[in-house]
Amino acid sequence: MTTSWESPSNIALIKYWGKRDTQLPSNPSISFTLSKCKTTTEVHFSEGTGVNITLDGTDKPEFIPKIEGFLERIMHRHPWLSSYNLQIKTRNSFPHSSGIASSASGMSALSLCIVEFAQKIDFKFDALNFYQEASILSRLGSGSASRSIYGGLVVWGGTPTLENANDEYAIEYPHIIDPIFKNYCDVVLLVEVGEKSVSSTAGHALMDNHPFRSQRFSQAHQHLSEIQKILKTGDIENFIRLTELEALTLHGLMMSSSPSYILMKPNTLKIIEEIREFRRESKLPLSFTLDAGANVHVLFPAAMKEKGMAFIKNTLIQYCKENRFIADHVGSGPKRLTNFEK
Ligand code: DP6
Repeated sequence: MTTSWESPSNIALIKYWGKRDTQLPSNPSISFTLSKCKTTTEVHFSEGTGVNITLDGTDKPEFIPKIEGFLERIMHRHPWLSSYNLQIKTRNSFPHSSGIASSASGMSALSLCIVEFAQKIDFKFDALNFYQEASILSRLGSGSASRSIYGGLVVWGGTPTLENANDEYAIEYPHIIDPIFKNYCDVVLLVEVGEKSVSSTAGHALMDNHPFRSQRFSQAHQHLSEIQKILKTGDIENFIRLTELEALTLHGLMMSSSPSYILMKPNTLKIIEEIREFRRESKLPLSFTLDAGANVHVLFPAAMKEKGMAFIKNTLIQYCKENRFIADHVGSGPKRLTNFEK
């Protein structure tokens, strides 16, 4: 029996950075789910044991240990997995090693395939519903993947100002948001392609003994509270202030870790300066956020798409590797597929 899903990547506005126990976050986070940056996965389940995996039709034995580790981690919730062989076919819409995190889209797509199969064999899982179970499994694969299960704005991690938010699984942002945030644009500028110098798992571990640890975690709760007012009122000025602060705080934490890391490149800083200058001169609400890498996510409302894209093509593109960027926007979440080949 075969199940197939496509699942998008996401970009955090308030960043998850630091974790404890089995993939539980040290602080709450909120993200935009993307649309075009996605992974498509098909899993063929048959009786037996073992895993094999292809990416774009090519065997990837080097991915097997990671997948096996993930299956072991979810085995207590899905013991049936121990008597199945999984043949996984996967492909990403974005180029491999483009510096775009494939763990969020990849782990969520795989988790959705597993939960759908569990449902087909009438296995009764613990969570309240299909998507909650898929978010728990995704989280066990990669923390940020827990948020890719839903479209739009998604929260992961308990925080006093959001009643149902919790550390086990992500939830759709439950309150009314200003329409400006519904179809926000995110253009990913590829400043650097290839392996990151610090994996996100090693990066999170840097928070364990970080001197600013407790201040950071309480700041994230404070930011979660602030962003809720911003989302409701469409206060774009404070949206930009807060999200840029979050991006630079993430990098500031890495720079002030021991050992320390600088993941921005000279072109990352050039882009940030250009964006801030463009904003000062044009008074248009175009801003940036960053992942744990050198690439820059350029954020702007859909209403200024033409001007935003013109600025990127005329000014920012020179700082991108081989002029590469991916024009994405907020999307509606994963889709079940009936045919992987499509
Ligand atoms: C900076 O989810 O990639 O993108 O749980 O170890 O797989 P693991 O880490 P991962 O960390 C993402 C960190 C971040 C911020 C965020 O997405 O919230």
